[in-house]
Amino acid sequence: MTQLVDTISEMRRWSQGARQRGDVVALVPTMGALHRGHLALVKRARQEAQRVVVSIFVNPLQFAPHEDWDRYPRQLANDMAALADEQVDVVFAPSVEEMYPQGDSLTRVSVASMAGALCGRTRPTHFDGVTTVVAKLFHIVQPDVAVFGEKDWQQLTIIRRMVSDLNFPVTVLGVPTVREPSGLALSSRNQYLSPEEHQRAGAIYQSLVRAKERYQQGERHRDRLIDLVRATLHEAGLTPEYVEIVDPGTLEACPASLPSSALLAVAVPVGRARLIDNMLLGQ
Ligand code: PAF
Repeated sequence: MTQLVDTISEMRRWSQGARQRGDVVALVPTMGALHRGHLALVKRARQEAQRVVVSIFVNPLQFAPHEDWDRYPRQLANDMAALADEQVDVVFAPSVEEMYPQGDSLTRVSVASMAGALCGRTRPTHFDGVTTVVAKLFHIVQPDVAVFGEKDWQQLTIIRRMVSDLNFPVTVLGVPTVREPSGLALSSRNQYLSPEEHQRAGAIYQSLVRAKERYQQGERHRDRLIDLVRATLHEAGLTPEYVEIVDPGTLEACPASLPSSALLAVAVPVGRARLIDNMLLGQ
């Protein structure tokens, strides 16, 4: 039976009990509005641990005032049902007041330069909000393992670095992106798309695949691959916020002549949604 916990004290008591029994605990942090991508994270967590906790918290700290915090989809009853089917042990769903009783957190965890790369250029406070809440969740749940999606590659890389820099005793695992038949990456924000926008958004994946194919055929010129992605998006009437090729481990921009390992990453506004996706080129 899946237990719903909404206070920090009860979550801590549960975790202490699990650890005393010698159980390995895995945490899947989410903001809810769960889809098959999240369930893939839960399945991976289940492979790694006897006990699985899923947190559901739409974290205000990672949204700028003009962003979609207030309209972000919230569907706790549906999420609980899906997680019960996956035999999740605990859903930790605290209120904003429970997580930030003083209204804000004066303390920020910041993975400096990485937080300013890619999405950080237009969302300068976003990743500090993510790392701050994930650090809090790690302290509260005390997991042995935490599972994140590779769709949010920048987030995953930043959290790995935070865990390493701050010596959290947590193993961070990444799970490959789950896609629709069109290739569109599953995202809770896909709910914002009209049917026509949804169809057009399939071009995001096609643009990445085209670039990867060209890379595999030997193209190593960074800007030519970026132009190809932009052109494919343009054909579908989409204008990307960014198209970048970076080192997958550091998120630093790759040189004009690409190395054997590189990450192609895009952010594309489609209607009211801002969609992100990425693909590894080479290894
Ligand atoms: O990826 C998300 O859903 C969020 O950024 C996370 C990791 C749950 C932190 O709020």
